[in-house]
Amino acid sequence: MTTSQGAQSGGDGAEQRLQEQFDATIAKDQRIEPRDWMPEGYRKTLIRQIAQHAHSEIIGMQPEGEWITRAPSLRRKAILFAKVQDEAGHGLYLYSAAETLGADRADLTERLIEGRQKYSSIFNYPTPTFADVGVIGWFVDGAAICNQVPLCRSSYGPYARSMVRICKEESFHQRQGYELLMTMMRGTDAQREMVQDAVNRWWWPSLMMFGPPDGDSPNSAASMAWKIKRHSNDELRRRFVDMTVPQAEKLGVTLPDPELRWNEERGHHDFGTPDWSELKRVISGDGPCNEQRVARRRAAHEEGAWVREAATAHAAKRAARSARAQEAQNTQEGTAA
Ligand SMILES: [Fe+2]
Ligand SMILES: [Fe+2]
Repeated sequence: MTTSQGAQSGGDGAEQRLQEQFDATIAKDQRIEPRDWMPEGYRKTLIRQIAQHAHSEIIGMQPEGEWITRAPSLRRKAILFAKVQDEAGHGLYLYSAAETLGADRADLTERLIEGRQKYSSIFNYPTPTFADVGVIGWFVDGAAICNQVPLCRSSYGPYARSMVRICKEESFHQRQGYELLMTMMRGTDAQREMVQDAVNRWWWPSLMMFGPPDGDSPNSAASMAWKIKRHSNDELRRRFVDMTVPQAEKLGVTLPDPELRWNEERGHHDFGTPDWSELKRVISGDGPCNEQRVARRRAAHEEGAWVREAATAHAAKRAARSARAQEAQNTQEGTAA
């Protein structure tokens, strides 16, 4: 980036002025754009966060994708197919946003499949029944909305703008999940049991999606100061619980937390503490499906090599053709003159 190189060659005074400009932009709630100077820490934090987010979208296609060929009706298949495809699109927007910061998409993919970069812990849990598809839409996409709506006001322009598009699709995801569960709850006892079982399995992992408690979240303070993040993990978790409890009542399922109750004084629900050691374990690679998810992603990447090679060869051919055409035109103009 030219401005940042300018800052380095311009000495401390210039760097300081750029830093002041950056701080003022953040203070005024204006956006930082790719052409703007930004502190290295800001750039690195954003690349890490956006890459993890992109990886989560792509890995997140797997747990539900397993049900596309086994969906119980054409309608459910079409909905699920559209949803999983949306997640691929979210991944693409986000990898593109990371590229505006100087990251290389091939390098990010490499980091993911070598286990050097993380993705959301939630996608390391299995989806044994079709009710899981509904509960993922309701809880996981619901949690994603809680997380991502404030990110539409994130200080980095390309990230914020990609979130606007993504959030519109996430609300469809959440609704299709809830509607599927409503349908199952109107069905047989076995279907209702299936829904309750999926709710029991996904509730705590969904609460963990918001990350560790605030006191144990080392990157949060900087992200909040830079207005990359607008709310703390615990605050977002609270919002999710408050949003979900009435939906559970309407659906007719119980949430597996004996401590869950409305606190009149606080105007929020009280709820139990997730098992943070489980989150640590899953994040560090020891969840029920970590190995399977990464292996699958690696295989897809390797099997897709021919597509990337063909696209690169095609682009090179087109570039050569237009260079030849340009050259011919130049010669023609030369002889005409
Ligand atoms: Fe998504
Ligand atoms: Fe989604």
